[in-house]
Amino acid sequence: MTSLSSSHSLSTTSNKTRPLILGITGASGLIYAVRAIKFLLEADATIELVASKSTYMVWQAEQQVRMPLDVVQQEQFWRQQAGVESGGKLRCHPWGDVGATIASGSYRTQGMLIMPCSMSTVAKIAAGLSSDLLERAADVQLKEGKKLVLVPRETPFSLIHLRNLTALAEAGVRIVPAIPAWYHNPQTVEDLVDFVVARALDQFDLDCVPLNRWAGHLDRPDLETEEIS
Ligand SMILES: Cc1cc2nc3c(=O)[nH]c(=O)nc-3n(C[C@H](O)[C@H](O)[C@H](O)COP(=O)(O)O)c2cc1C
Repeated sequence: MTSLSSSHSLSTTSNKTRPLILGITGASGLIYAVRAIKFLLEADATIELVASKSTYMVWQAEQQVRMPLDVVQQEQFWRQQAGVESGGKLRCHPWGDVGATIASGSYRTQGMLIMPCSMSTVAKIAAGLSSDLLERAADVQLKEGKKLVLVPRETPFSLIHLRNLTALAEAGVRIVPAIPAWYHNPQTVEDLVDFVVARALDQFDLDCVPLNRWAGHLDRPDLETEEIS
């Protein structure tokens, strides 16, 4: 039996109220995903979450805690990690479920953010592979001309990484590397992380992360008269 839903009336759903797909891969820096979940749920957003198989191993290595496989338990797990018990909608999908809603171009979303994004996933998306749900969802965003934003995390980048990232940028993917800024006066690790999360969500025009945005010089040096040492 197939699972289809039809709508005959003209939908007025704005892009911003549609679900955002959050892909999480086995790159270091799962805190980026946790902070994004926190701010999106606090802003009452709907998240369709898919974590790659490797994410489970990296989570254990980084946090010494097991991430549940069961999707209902996983929703509770992410809410707990993000410190947001209620609010917003969070639906988790198993990595192997290529029959999930987000595997289809007919499912309407505002795009997909992959954060953190491993070099393996970068390579697979650049090659057009869809070997799990995360890669399939990314491939679908590309073929549908939807927004796909990657937050790659690796250092240093090899020539192959750079070529794959370039191929994706040429295909219209926004590349927002996990590189924090220092001009917003960060005091904590979260401040540094949140800068990257805010810039990634900016690509969807989602302004839900409290951030000291650059507002111009407060104390502008007079470059004509002052001596710069
Ligand atoms: C603790 C740990 C940290 C890792 N950090 C990174 C990383 O920062 N970037 C990266 O590209 N791969 C990293 N890897 C390797 C990926 O997890 C590995 O390439 C995996 O196959 C990625 O699969 P995925 O893209 O499907 O999640 C890390 C692995 C472990 C165990």
